[in-house]
Amino acid sequence: MTKNYKAAPLPFIGQKRLFLKDFKAMLAEIEGDGEGWTIVDVFGGSGLLAHTAKRAKPKARVIYNDYDNYSERLANIDSTNVLRREIHRLLAPMPKDGSLSAEIAGQIRTAILAHQAAGGYIDIGCLNAWLCFGGDWKPLEKILNARDLWSRVAKTDYNADGYLDGLIIEAADYRELLQKYRAEKTLFVFDPPYIKTMQGMYANSKYFDMVAFLELMDSVAPPFVFFSGSCSELPAYVDYLKKSRPHEWRHKFEGAVVKHRVGRVNASAAYKDNMIYNLQAV
Ligand SMILES: C[S@@+](CC[C@H](N)C(=O)[O-])C[C@H]1O[C@@H](n2cnc3c(N)ncnc32)[C@H](O)[C@@H]1O
Repeated sequence: MTKNYKAAPLPFIGQKRLFLKDFKAMLAEIEGDGEGWTIVDVFGGSGLLAHTAKRAKPKARVIYNDYDNYSERLANIDSTNVLRREIHRLLAPMPKDGSLSAEIAGQIRTAILAHQAAGGYIDIGCLNAWLCFGGDWKPLEKILNARDLWSRVAKTDYNADGYLDGLIIEAADYRELLQKYRAEKTLFVFDPPYIKTMQGMYANSKYFDMVAFLELMDSVAPPFVFFSGSCSELPAYVDYLKKSRPHEWRHKFEGAVVKHRVGRVNASAAYKDNMIYNLQAV
């Protein structure tokens, strides 16, 4: 197989780049090359976990739930690179990671509109990563009308060769996917949108809220791996379950392993994420 990606080829907020080492170590606890196994990346996002799982367990059937149509972004990478080069050229006089002068911001807006008018692909995830302050998310109209744009464009072209190789791509609500793939020797990977956080960058039209989280928890059973944020839901929920529904806790979480990683949104804001996995049924 080809390249092993350490990050999603195109920007994606919430990708689990920082957990790849822990994720691979967890997969290594499943013996062999994955023969007979199915691994389902239920909240696939950029597909980075599905990609990593396929590379680590090449004989496994690996499902990437591409709910956000990230593969469309990948298919249009050449067009995105054309716009990236143009914006990079316009930004050349600017310091990295600084706010833009009104003149250059105006030239960039003109370049985006010209690219669009010529039939070029508009990758809104890239425009946010290149031109908006870390963690802030804007639709195209807001970027075009923003008073403040930033100089954060990627320095080199993107490349996604072989990234999706070997993956089975689905695009379905998580409930449908769980029904379809629930079986023996199936590892579910859960990385839902974090509740109590901004979700405007994702495809879900309905906010992934507490009820959606609780519904999801009802269907979680080992073997699974689950990601969550510290200000979010999972660790407190696991404590609650242990105290108030110990039987259910034993079935789902007894013997589970917890890993933590600290990441940065921007220079002034950090976050702590958790990965909890339980392979007890393996
Ligand atoms: C935190 S991101 C996943 C990031 C991913 N693990 C990665 O490494 O790129 C959560 C994803 O869940 C998706 N999602 C939201 N609601 C969903 C639903 N009802 N069914 C399936 N996926 C959903 C979002 O669109 C988003 O892609």
